[in-house]
Amino acid sequence: MKHLFKKGTNPSKPTLLLLHGTGGTETDLLPLAEMVDAEASVLSVRGNIVENGMPRYFKRLAEGVFDIENLKEETKNLADFIDEASKKYGFDRDNVVAIGYSNGANIAGSLLFRYQDVLKGAILHHPMVPLRGLELPDLSQVPVFIGAGENDPICAPQESKDLKQLLEEAGSSVDIDWGQHGHSLTQKEVLAAAQWYAENFA
Ligand code: MLT
Repeated sequence: MKHLFKKGTNPSKPTLLLLHGTGGTETDLLPLAEMVDAEASVLSVRGNIVENGMPRYFKRLAEGVFDIENLKEETKNLADFIDEASKKYGFDRDNVVAIGYSNGANIAGSLLFRYQDVLKGAILHHPMVPLRGLELPDLSQVPVFIGAGENDPICAPQESKDLKQLLEEAGSSVDIDWGQHGHSLTQKEVLAAAQWYAENFA
């Protein structure tokens, strides 16, 4: 997958897996990584799918209606890619924390829903429930931060509440930060995520 890797200054820190929103690229979330943990290594991946010229991580049939088969396939591709990248760049495969926004948060959620130990934790900005009716792996060691919008027209508040509940039922401890700026990713939300990260991973 097209990506960039930036080696951190402190090898004991997690590697931050950056996953952009629809229409983004692997450089979009670099400022977030800097705010969350400036010492961490960064693996930032561009989505494999192109929709009307816009990169994303999996196909959709309509706004908010996912192509479940393709989501499954691309979730596996991303999981395999993280494994390969850890060998190529020499980072600790068991210490990867995702930071995803929108479509990137949705594929991060799909990784958590499908694979045991794929992530050490996740910051999900404006996610949806990636898939319903799946039995989740044990997530008792995987804390999750959700940034959600009370008036988000793309990811309805109920999606965030349902996602929190499903992750908690799998054992995860989940914190939600609510904002009032629709689907936008605000500095307040990123600072809340950075604080959550400091409490869980510093
Ligand atoms: C998705 O397709 O993942 C969601 O609708 C968010 C987005 O618009 O990318």
